[in-house]
Amino acid sequence: MVTAGTLPDTLLFPVEENRRDPFLVLGVETSCDETAAAVVANGIAVLSSVVSSQVDLHARFGGVVPEIASRAHVELLTPVMAEALVEAGIEGGADAVAATVGPGLVGALLVGVSAAKALSIVWGVPFVGVNHLEAHLYAGFLEEPDLKPPLVALLVSGGHTLLVEMKDHGRYVQLGTTIDDAAGEAFDKVARFLGLGYPGGPAIERAAADGDPEAVRFPRAMLDDQYDFSFSGLKTAVINHVRKHPDVGTADVAASFQAAVVDVLVTKAVRAAVEAGAETVCLGGGVAANGPLREVLTGACEDRGLRAVLPSRAMCTDNAAMVAAAGWWRLRAEGPTPLDAGVQPNLRLPVG
Ligand code: KG4
Ligand code: ZN
Repeated sequence: MVTAGTLPDTLLFPVEENRRDPFLVLGVETSCDETAAAVVANGIAVLSSVVSSQVDLHARFGGVVPEIASRAHVELLTPVMAEALVEAGIEGGADAVAATVGPGLVGALLVGVSAAKALSIVWGVPFVGVNHLEAHLYAGFLEEPDLKPPLVALLVSGGHTLLVEMKDHGRYVQLGTTIDDAAGEAFDKVARFLGLGYPGGPAIERAAADGDPEAVRFPRAMLDDQYDFSFSGLKTAVINHVRKHPDVGTADVAASFQAAVVDVLVTKAVRAAVEAGAETVCLGGGVAANGPLREVLTGACEDRGLRAVLPSRAMCTDNAAMVAAAGWWRLRAEGPTPLDAGVQPNLRLPVG
């Protein structure tokens, strides 16, 4: 683990001019069902990253229950932040506090944002509101210090499927999105239908490991269209197939469904990079933890001479290190967020 004292000189890239010591951002993430806090130096070196998952609390309901999520964040956030600060060795405070302000569940967001603002007042340091989608994009920068825009990013999570050209830090062009279900949502819904439990993505991946991805040729919707996605028809195709063939093996269905999702995601991401003239494809979001997606994307990028950037699985799913990293860049670009700014449950990626 990098410590503030051992941070290489090349990473000293401070927010304030002439500042030579590392600038430490405490990141806070409570947009959905992970309570997370992390300390990141200069937007790039993770000094600590603590994630407390609420999966067990929501599993019996088959999905995230907003009120339960908010209450769990209230209970968990203080110890999670304390652990992140102690692990980073900076109990005295950070140089800025960044928290996810949206998109996400309103009550859940409020818990993290209120705590982050309170700490920024107590420590007398800036507060920075972070866009959760932008944070997922920044996960790649945490583990590949030489990574630089322009690049094409595929952001696949429970609520979003975005193909984005990142022209520079904070400058995005949205190339495509889903016209119905998000990729992660499709995994969750198909897993629920197959009785595999929640969260669906890891459950499908586990079941698929014993299955044949070519057992059923599920549709690859909108494969030839530019960059938009559609996963709702695929979910229906799975349901219809299982109803028509009740004896079909769950592992084969899971593997064939997963192969269809991966095929569409990888084909479009690689095509977008080639057409945009980008040399790098960067993966982000919870679905980016999917093994076959990572393997197929790596192979397809190799074939085209592209660099594939795959954040570690822990950085793909919700965490606060990515929030701290995105917060550092936002602070450099725009300065602090006013303390009277609220949460934005429907926030989108700032494109243009
Ligand atoms: O980014 P994330 O942790 O939270 C959101 O911002 O939505 O993504 C959660 C989504 C869920 O739909 C979950 O099923 C999916 O990511 N996911 C996976 C895997 N791990 C998590 N999907 C496919 N394969 C996985 N291994
Ligand atoms: Zn997320």
